[in-house]
Amino acid sequence: MNAQEQVAEMKRAALAAFQEAGAANDAKALEAARIKFLGSNGQLKALKELLKGASKEEKPALGKALNDADKELTTAFEAAKSSAGPAKQSGPAFDPTEPLPPEKAPQLGRLHPLTRTVDQVRDVLHALGFEVVEGPEVEDERHNFDDLNIPKDHPSRDSWDTFMLSKDALLRSQTSTVQVRVMETRKPPLRVIAPGRVYRPDKIDATHGSTFHQIEGLYVDKGVSMADLRGTLRLMAEGLFGKGTQVRFRPSFFPFTEPSAEMDCTCPACGGPGCSVCKQSGWVELGGCGMVDPNVFKALNKARGDNAYDPEVWSGFAFGFGIERLAMRRHGITDIRLFLENDLRFLRQI
Ligand code: FA5
Repeated sequence: MNAQEQVAEMKRAALAAFQEAGAANDAKALEAARIKFLGSNGQLKALKELLKGASKEEKPALGKALNDADKELTTAFEAAKSSAGPAKQSGPAFDPTEPLPPEKAPQLGRLHPLTRTVDQVRDVLHALGFEVVEGPEVEDERHNFDDLNIPKDHPSRDSWDTFMLSKDALLRSQTSTVQVRVMETRKPPLRVIAPGRVYRPDKIDATHGSTFHQIEGLYVDKGVSMADLRGTLRLMAEGLFGKGTQVRFRPSFFPFTEPSAEMDCTCPACGGPGCSVCKQSGWVELGGCGMVDPNVFKALNKARGDNAYDPEVWSGFAFGFGIERLAMRRHGITDIRLFLENDLRFLRQI
């Protein structure tokens, strides 16, 4: 074999070795082939030594063949190396567990603070056997007023206190409508809560919205008392504001409960001594409650055409809280309008 043939043979063997190692993603074998053919003691170097003994005529052609082989093999080695890099040796091409830099990380969503407040109330009351029910937001006068013992001349029926849609269609002004909806379709005993949106043409300010949310509770059974109401609401307040939260009832009036009360709890901001949130009183108001008025049971019996809610047999309690106001107390929010503005800077803080 003359020198030219030896160069060609070496080149063929080297190309085959590079290609094989590259195709197998075998970085180790590739490096071994590089050392064997292109290394400082490799075959190409050894063949270059032949130039010294070559005749004058042979030298130019042999020199060119060696240079061409050098270039070609270096290119082939680089190509094989880029397809047999260490990351490609085994397993997936990227590490799915590696955290992304903050600017590339996906923006995770979260539940709205009003949803989380409802969830918190629901969790406590679920444990006490209450189930979640819903009612329509467009209502009629019977469900919003008549069957809740609200007299025909009550001011809340005025069009400046309720959004009237037509003569007998309105946007519900309270979730107490769901009490009527549940009792007309189900027999006692029952324990339900009804979270939902309500509408009132109230003047909008830091504590009033015209679209806001309430959560209604209704418990009807034999022998239900004010003590059950108080115990239930104390557990709810503890669930929302932490263990040790105290509650108190102040006498009030609602047409559908008798007796009626406003419920306060110890101020979540100061815990009792008094601060600007509770106007130095140590207490904050959460919502209305009371024992179901027997007139409501009678109206329901009339609507049902039976005596399922016999007021001599059944008693019950009901309560209704503003969800925005609960969330404001929980998170120290001072303006109710923030809930509806969809400002992510606000929502991400809570
Ligand atoms: C009622 O709506 C009664 N249905 C509650 C009730 C249910 C009493 C069952 C007895 C038995 P009131 O109008 O006070 O009551 O509203 C209840 C709560 O809704 C208030 O305590 C307050 O937290 C919230 N609320 C009332 N008006 C607004 C408003 N404009 N913006 C935000 N929250 C409001």
